[in-house]
Amino acid sequence: KDIILVGPPGSGKGTQAPRIKDELCLCHLATGDLLRNAVAKGTEIGKEAKGIMARGELVPDQMVVDLIDDALKMPECERGVLLDGFPRTIPQAEALDEMFERKGKKVDHVVEFKTDDDILVERISGRRVHKASGRSYHVKFNPPKTEGVDDATGEPLIQRPDDNEDVLRNRLDSYHSQTTPILDYYKKHNVLTTINAMQGIDEVYADIGKDIF
Ligand code: AP5
Ligand code: ZN
Repeated sequence: KDIILVGPPGSGKGTQAPRIKDELCLCHLATGDLLRNAVAKGTEIGKEAKGIMARGELVPDQMVVDLIDDALKMPECERGVLLDGFPRTIPQAEALDEMFERKGKKVDHVVEFKTDDDILVERISGRRVHKASGRSYHVKFNPPKTEGVDDATGEPLIQRPDDNEDVLRNRLDSYHSQTTPILDYYKKHNVLTTINAMQGIDEVYADIGKDIF
């Protein structure tokens, strides 16, 4: 199966993705994580993306399309992919259809994580992430076993540089103006499922399961 997760910043895509991926044996491709790795490594893409991400704007379509095109070549993606944070614009959705068509794949499910904007400030300000893996925690809603430390590796957790209220506002603007049009696009293709992402983490997972497992 090939599945797309769409939702505003902090809606829970990265929290649900590892569980969905394990359940269905998919590879998890998060363009935000791929871009943050490129920034950390200081690649050409990373240098261009750094400032754009820090402002909470979207990087150019071709940049993420190329990243995904490359990542789809990984053998672990043959069984299916779980796309988290991609596509985010109509041109990205069209480019994905072309990439999938070439591989004889199609989009099976698009899960929309629906939330009110006003709950996202608390989600984003309490988030702590493990930099190397992208695993995310929340100081209140999903705390690690030991404060400030990743469960799996024991390495320290950090706050993402774009996780502050000012940048969040721009990320939300980008979401509403550039990303929500893809929801209609997928609705027309009869693959859209909308989940109430304001419930607890386990309830959200159960709702996703009802539709796609
Ligand atoms: P990206 O990394 O994708 O960030 P985002 O879309 O803003 O999404 P987040 O990662 O903030 O939210 P999430 O839904 O994963 O939330 P999480 O599960 O961690 O992108 C970053 C930047 O890269 C973009 O701004 C852009 O510049 C660029 N970019 C990326 N992809 C791009 C693309 N395709 N095109 C162009 N540019 C692109 O949860 C958040 C917090 O809430 C956590 O602390 C978590 O523990 C907690 N939480 C989760 N679920 C619940 C729940 N049900 N109840 C309570 N707490 C919860
Ligand atoms: Zn995420």
